Amino acid sequence: MKLLVTGGAGYIGSHVVRIAEASGAEVTVVDDLSTGIVNRVSCPLEEIQLANDGAVSQLTQLMTETKFDAVIHLAAKKQVGESVEQPESYYKDNIGGLANLLTAMRATNTLKLVFSSSAATYGMPDVEAVNEDYPPNPINPYGQTKLVGEWLVKAAGVWGLRGVNLRYFNVAGTGHPGLGDTAALNLIPIAIGQVKSGKSPIVFGNDYPTPDGSCIRDYVHVQDLAAAHLRAVEYLDQPKRSFDTFNVGTGVGASVIEVLDELKKASGVDFEIEIGDRRPGDPPRLVADVSRIKNELGFECEKNLGEIVQSAWDAS
Ligand code: WQD
Repeated sequence: MKLLVTGGAGYIGSHVVRIAEASGAEVTVVDDLSTGIVNRVSCPLEEIQLANDGAVSQLTQLMTETKFDAVIHLAAKKQVGESVEQPESYYKDNIGGLANLLTAMRATNTLKLVFSSSAATYGMPDVEAVNEDYPPNPINPYGQTKLVGEWLVKAAGVWGLRGVNLRYFNVAGTGHPGLGDTAALNLIPIAIGQVKSGKSPIVFGNDYPTPDGSCIRDYVHVQDLAAAHLRAVEYLDQPKRSFDTFNVGTGVGASVIEVLDELKKASGVDFEIEIGDRRPGDPPRLVADVSRIKNELGFECEKNLGEIVQSAWDAS
């Protein structure tokens, strides 16, 4: 099987590439190396900025030279705060990039796509576990671009595209040495950085309506998430499947304080925890209902929170 992975030099993308190669796929990566790291990939890499004017012809040439069985599209900007400050650049890169990719896929009759979407499409759902039919209501431009991206993937069914949107929950951990999340933008890498520099991790609010007062999320090991992409490609191999959306989570919630307790175990450091103010826009609870992906793709995460935190610590 020949696979094109955009964003394959990124933290998540490089795990997808590894697992695809391990399954025998021949992988080509497209990445603009803006946040991707070239050393993460050993397969052929084309440096293309997907949202640029020239991207359609570059991609069309690439997809003409190699007939890909499917495309896994992860290349995108993903910082919520930055998206609030720079909405135009998020729409340009995330939607413009996808539109260019689809234009080239249409021109070359490349008909299967797995799209990297996000639980950010849900906004602030007021349920124990959110399923894919819950009305999406993203509360920042990042989440909006992911939702519009999903719509675009669906709309492209008009020319025969078969697409799967994977809504990632909180991705963390490391599957291979050297592929760790170096960006330190999310709880686990931020807290690891603080512990390593002798500081106290900060809990953003402990007065939420949750058992210990801190926010609850669904943490997914990046290796499990990567495996879900391959399942999605297999799912699209069956001719009836034209479009679907799946949560990728464990279905199990963990609070910020529980994550930090796991980090104490993983690191062996009995650090202090600081309680800070709430961070604006944080839902108290965001946990995936994973019945659909389990029933339709036969997919379940295998790794628990302890393994996620331990792998992140070991790779740091
Ligand atoms: C997790 C929890 C924080 C740092 C974001 C995006 C989402 C998706 C995943 C891409 C929250 C708390 C954090 C800290 C803390 N991204 N926290 N102290 O916000 O759930 O999701 O990443 O698709 O779209 O919004 O992840 O890791 O920032 O926070 O207490 O120093 O940890 O308040 O409750 P979040 P996060």
